[in-house]
Amino acid sequence: MITVNEQVFTLHTRRTTYQMKADAYRVLLHTYYGARVGSADLSYPIRHADRGFSPNPNEAGDWRGYSLDTLPQEYSSCGVGDYRLPSLELELPDGSRLTDLRYTGYERRSGKYTLEGLPAFFGGDEWETLVIFLEDAAAQITVELYYGVLEERDLITRTVRVVNKGDKPVRLCRAASLCLDFQRPDLDFITFDGCHVMERCPHRTPLRHGVQSVGSVRGASSHHHNPFVILCSRDAAEDHGVCYGAMLLYSGNFEAAAERTQLEHNRLVMGIHPYHFRWTLEPGAAFTAPEAALVCSPDGFAGMTHQYHRAIREHLIRDPYRGGRRPVLINNWEATEFNFNAEKLVEIAQGAAGLGIELFVMDDGWFGTRDTDLSGLGDWSVNLKKLPGGLEALVPRIQKMGMKFGLWIEPEMVSENSDLYRAHPDWALGAPGRPQTRGRSQLVLDFAREEVREYIYQAMRQILDSAEISYVKWDMNRSLSDVWSAALPPDRQGEVYHRYVLGLYEVLERLRQDYPNLFIEGCSGGGGRFDAGMLYYTPQIWCSDNTDAIDRLRIQYGTSFCYPASTMGAHVSAVPNGQTGRDTPMETRGVVAMSGTFGYEMDLGKVSQEERETIAQQVQRYKDHWDLIENGDYYRLSSPFEEGPFTAWAHVAPDRRRALVSLVTGSMRAAPPFVTLRIKGLDPDLEYRVNGEETYRGDVLAQVGYPVPILMGDYQSLQLVLEAE
Ligand code: DGJ
Repeated sequence: MITVNEQVFTLHTRRTTYQMKADAYRVLLHTYYGARVGSADLSYPIRHADRGFSPNPNEAGDWRGYSLDTLPQEYSSCGVGDYRLPSLELELPDGSRLTDLRYTGYERRSGKYTLEGLPAFFGGDEWETLVIFLEDAAAQITVELYYGVLEERDLITRTVRVVNKGDKPVRLCRAASLCLDFQRPDLDFITFDGCHVMERCPHRTPLRHGVQSVGSVRGASSHHHNPFVILCSRDAAEDHGVCYGAMLLYSGNFEAAAERTQLEHNRLVMGIHPYHFRWTLEPGAAFTAPEAALVCSPDGFAGMTHQYHRAIREHLIRDPYRGGRRPVLINNWEATEFNFNAEKLVEIAQGAAGLGIELFVMDDGWFGTRDTDLSGLGDWSVNLKKLPGGLEALVPRIQKMGMKFGLWIEPEMVSENSDLYRAHPDWALGAPGRPQTRGRSQLVLDFAREEVREYIYQAMRQILDSAEISYVKWDMNRSLSDVWSAALPPDRQGEVYHRYVLGLYEVLERLRQDYPNLFIEGCSGGGGRFDAGMLYYTPQIWCSDNTDAIDRLRIQYGTSFCYPASTMGAHVSAVPNGQTGRDTPMETRGVVAMSGTFGYEMDLGKVSQEERETIAQQVQRYKDHWDLIENGDYYRLSSPFEEGPFTAWAHVAPDRRRALVSLVTGSMRAAPPFVTLRIKGLDPDLEYRVNGEETYRGDVLAQVGYPVPILMGDYQSLQLVLEAE
């Protein structure tokens, strides 16, 4: 996978090649990333031309054709002649902010490098690692660029380790996880943006001159922009054109910035957001940037999606149910919000029992004085008025109905009206002499602080040890503000955002180690922290607080570009929907929810007999096809963002002998057009039986399509089960 020839480093995956080269001045140039080619030196198209106002490094003497400002860089420097986006910014003991990196050596290792305290893709001999060593001799800084190559999945991971070799502290102001220079002008930038209850909607724009960026300074990766972006050729679509996915395995502040330069080239830099980031590197200390993961697909988005999905399932997610099916769940939140007691929960559970539902999740409101969202966070002991006898009494009652038990918790937060806050007001983030900004009437605990983490960890242990709890929904319901930690001196406050994320990862990792069978679902007001970093600890994340099936088509569509169905928590809820007021048929709600990790979130104690029958059928259908849904290849057949008669998608078995195709219509019009659905991913030579009736060849279904019957009424749905004869 990795070849080295005269300081030319070539990484090959099954379908792609990535190359860099240390030149005569030991500057590490990026020479190529794209469809697979040989290992020859690909630096020949790089031009050395004198460009006005692009200065020349000292050792180039009077050679004005050599400038860091015009050459494609593997990891860009700062303040020494490259005026494009920097990758590393240092503040040196003499006050200078200069970084000039030169190649000093490399190491090739079998297997994948590992990271301490940070999420990372993992695996064995199917990986190879390349480490490139760079130095800034004047600053006495070394930089190690790590590359993990997973050939079969076209995945290249990157991370960066910065080491202070000097005898004085140095400040890091930026340490990007990746820099990618493209020597081509014609790229589009696709970002996944939105807001609470409408996350990860794709937006595509041609790159224009200057810097275009997305990011988060909210302390979490956010509902608003996702730490996953795509650069692609102008013609790129699902099945053609080249596209480059760049994913950051990080759950805090991030930035993904793309710049079109004077040469009509493009640079992408991605990593921790430099906003309020200032990290002191003591002599001998090292800083490791979060991992980034690249997939290039030479033939469109679908190929990129499949490689990310497989890599995430096989090499990122640590799932207690690995190889098996996760339980279908019922969650009480939308049915009751805070207004419940043990009898109400049991009534809902009784409604679920007998429908094939296997896990009961008790949501917010079971602890402390939590009768509204104004109080109680931090007091993680059972509210005995609501649940007499505590979990010890409730859990066995649920289990007797044949269901496992799970509960909601929001460990990073504290209410001012709580015993915890009264005892430790300084445990909340907040600067001295400044009243804190509230979000959902709550404050954020300082997870950068060890005693806070220890307290929360012990509180969680007490709950988890008090009854048989197989599932935890870990929520986080506000953005960070007033970021100041009582545990750090003034000149280290720029470390708090990152230390918070490291603290979060530490607690999650401890829980994972101590409770290997516990399944943790991530959540942040739905999808406010839906990122690959969290997925390393929480194999599934509540996709959005918006459970409206029609809005979910958009949210799940955008999410699907890199995150597999198995990571998207998706529930059927009651109508009219609480977020939109929309009525959609139960059947359609089921079709949409079963394209993620399936569950219900409604008062099953109150549904009609007819609805019960539909639910039982849906649960059975999900169980019949879960393997296809969670482990098959996902094809977007049409976009919910484009005008069209329906939104459709397919889950296709890896051997292409089975597929589940789902379709949802929009609002109905009279005299509807006759439409066919062209189905992707099938074997062109196989004959498929559709829903046990007619048969069609794979190539016919792909080119001519399946005749979609007229579905009367708004928001109707159709599922087709395709089985090869
Ligand atoms: C936000 C979550 O996304 C909801 O599902 C629910 O758990 C509430 N928080 C509870 O406060």
